[in-house]
Amino acid sequence: MSTLDYPSSGHPASRIALGCMHFGGNRGRGEMDKTENLRTGRKALETALEEDINFFDHADIYSGGDSEEVFGELIKEMRLPRDSMLIQTKCGIRFNGDPGADDPHRYDFSEEHILRSVEGSLRRLGTDRIDILLLHRPDALMEPEEIAAAFAKLHASGKVRAFGVSNHTPPQMELLRDALPFPLVANQVEINLLKTSLIDAGIVSAGREPALGHPADGSLEYHRLHGIVTQAWAPLAYGYLSGRNPDTDDPRIQPTAALVHELADARGVPAEAIVIAWLLRHPAKIHPIIGTRDPARIRACAKSTDVRLTREEWYRLYLAGRGTSLP
Ligand SMILES: NC(=O)c1ccc[n+]([C@@H]2O[C@H](COP(=O)([O-])OP(=O)(O)OC[C@H]3O[C@@H](n4cnc5c(N)ncnc54)[C@H](OP(=O)(O)O)[C@@H]3O)[C@@H](O)[C@H]2O)c1
Repeated sequence: MSTLDYPSSGHPASRIALGCMHFGGNRGRGEMDKTENLRTGRKALETALEEDINFFDHADIYSGGDSEEVFGELIKEMRLPRDSMLIQTKCGIRFNGDPGADDPHRYDFSEEHILRSVEGSLRRLGTDRIDILLLHRPDALMEPEEIAAAFAKLHASGKVRAFGVSNHTPPQMELLRDALPFPLVANQVEINLLKTSLIDAGIVSAGREPALGHPADGSLEYHRLHGIVTQAWAPLAYGYLSGRNPDTDDPRIQPTAALVHELADARGVPAEAIVIAWLLRHPAKIHPIIGTRDPARIRACAKSTDVRLTREEWYRLYLAGRGTSLP
């Protein structure tokens, strides 16, 4: 598999990354059996490594910490060499009741919370360092100097190698970049064939296009200008284009899924490979974080690196996914 470079993170990352949000089970679906999670996670991890996937995405909050814990146990159990993997995690989201009964769901980029969160992730993952730490969702009360102080301590102690953000706008990144002693290496955002808004934002017209003005406008160009990797969360569009029965009546799904399957059949690859190849074809070098534990689906996604869509195929998919014609 081809690779992608993250400055300061250690070594090259596989072109496809594995999102580990469900390693602790799909909370809400009543799947919290640890033995079962270890068994399912082991198969997913084995398959990912067989497909040369070496980049793993976590967050302190995934399954309340269970996802990191299951992953940490698997690394130990499978005796995986830590240096062959890139482990990314996130901090900054706190749920209601943490720690006080009246404390609300909120974001927290205070130095104290960042440092405490990283300690928890290191413990659960059973590792002495995190390769990339992301700030999960922008904290309205963020003080860049305070974040910089936390990052400097984490870097100096060797606990974190590189830093980035998730769901941030260009002005928020600019604010941070001004204060941080390190470059931001990534911004993880939702982008897929059914969530094209960051690409739509680059299509400027006086006609039917929505007026510019969304805070995330220009994100992809901003990332390219500053060497920030665009990580795509939900790159599979939750499976709606590759076989999952849609639980919504979104009129874009059926025609886009039909086109995905047409292109997949023509190339002899699984539908997932086309859905992911659409992201890979973008010049921002988008890094898809696939959120599956299903070995067959991991293999299907890995096939995307063999596919290069033509400009015309890319636009046909884009037009179907965005659901409106271009100006
Ligand atoms: N930064 C953020 O704010 C943020 C937010 C959400 C997620 N993330 C990260 O991004 C990763 C991926 O996101 P995601 O998991 O939400 O979205 P995703 O990768 O688009 O979708 C994965 C989900 O879709 C299901 N799926 C895919 N194809 C399917 C098919 N053909 N039939 C049935 N089900 C299918 C998968 O089930 P199976 O397991 O059965 O394959 C899995 O539950 C996460 O693991 C996490 O690391 C980050």
